[in-house]
Amino acid sequence: MRAIVNTPGGTAPVELREIPEPNPGPHEVLVAVRAFSFNRGELRSFVNNEAGWIPGQDISGVVLKPAANGLGPSEGTRVVALTDEFGWAEQVAVPVHRIVPIPDNVSFAQAATLPVAGLTALRCVRLGGALVGRRVLITGAAGGVGTLAIQIAAHSGAHVTAVVGRPERAAGLGELGADDVVHGIESATGRFSLVLESGGGSSLSAALQRIEPKGTVVVYGNSSGEPSTISFQDFRAAQNARIQSFFYFTSGAEEQFAPDLALLVSLIADGNLRPVIGIEQDWAQLATVAESLRGRQVAGKAVFRTGNS
Ligand SMILES: NC(=O)c1ccc[n+]([C@@H]2O[C@H](COP(=O)([O-])OP(=O)(O)OC[C@H]3O[C@@H](n4cnc5c(N)ncnc54)[C@H](OP(=O)(O)O)[C@@H]3O)[C@@H](O)[C@H]2O)c1
Repeated sequence: MRAIVNTPGGTAPVELREIPEPNPGPHEVLVAVRAFSFNRGELRSFVNNEAGWIPGQDISGVVLKPAANGLGPSEGTRVVALTDEFGWAEQVAVPVHRIVPIPDNVSFAQAATLPVAGLTALRCVRLGGALVGRRVLITGAAGGVGTLAIQIAAHSGAHVTAVVGRPERAAGLGELGADDVVHGIESATGRFSLVLESGGGSSLSAALQRIEPKGTVVVYGNSSGEPSTISFQDFRAAQNARIQSFFYFTSGAEEQFAPDLALLVSLIADGNLRPVIGIEQDWAQLATVAESLRGRQVAGKAVFRTGNS
């Protein structure tokens, strides 16, 4: 089969190659991958992993072979799954507790946007507790996590302020549910019950200036790569506010991945969540699209079709 293989130091970070097919364990489902999506964090993993490694966490496709233990979806079921790695391939083996069926009215491309970005958006919003009538600030709002988080927070009853880096990045965010869109977090006025912060550096420092007393700043990314300084004085006007880190992989029990993924899929099926797919390309274009993502040119998610599509 073919897969995207890591090529650090090569002319491109990855290339398509022939590799052996996976050999699923008894608790794993074999999936013919139709689509997958790409996360900003995976740009780093090209550098941090060895040559020959196969990336890929967000996949959708069709079950080729059900798990031998009798659990999970049957042959021919359309599915979406969260894998640790190895997903950017024509076939991948997925543990039964990380895979859920997708209804006919949800496309492979839409479903593939969900595992990492959707779980992150859903669980970060939940960290704010009950949000009816509360103000929520979302940095990196035009990106993969941000465009999903805007919708989930708005459906939770929050008043949502979205932060973008350039005016053109604001396009479409109002329709997703953002009440206000600001250019740069410094333009966000007032205080917020919940801030989803992924910029890092001066963005995190500015977030702390905008949190309410007892509010929560969820720190889930550092897209700028910059450090931040904080001091006790930052909390003088926001007493007992907290900074909460978030890592999607350890943010809940393993058995919670499938129910949360199923919830996200059902929101799309019901018309309550609309993944923004800024780029949908054949997987041969991955290295080029990686540069667009690095350059903050992708609105929402980048999705790829594999050789099975
Ligand atoms: N902790 C976790 O479990 C977890 C899970 C998923 C993602 N993440 C992290 O969360 C962040 C967002 O992920 P994503 O997949 O939504 O990424 P993305 O699609 O690339 O979106 C990130 C957005 O952040 C904005 N941004 C602001 N400052 C930036 C900077 N200095 N460099 C690059 N982008 C900047 C960009 O929008 P503008 O150009 O409009 O500012 C960009 O659209 C990333 O840092 C990612 O690594 C963490």
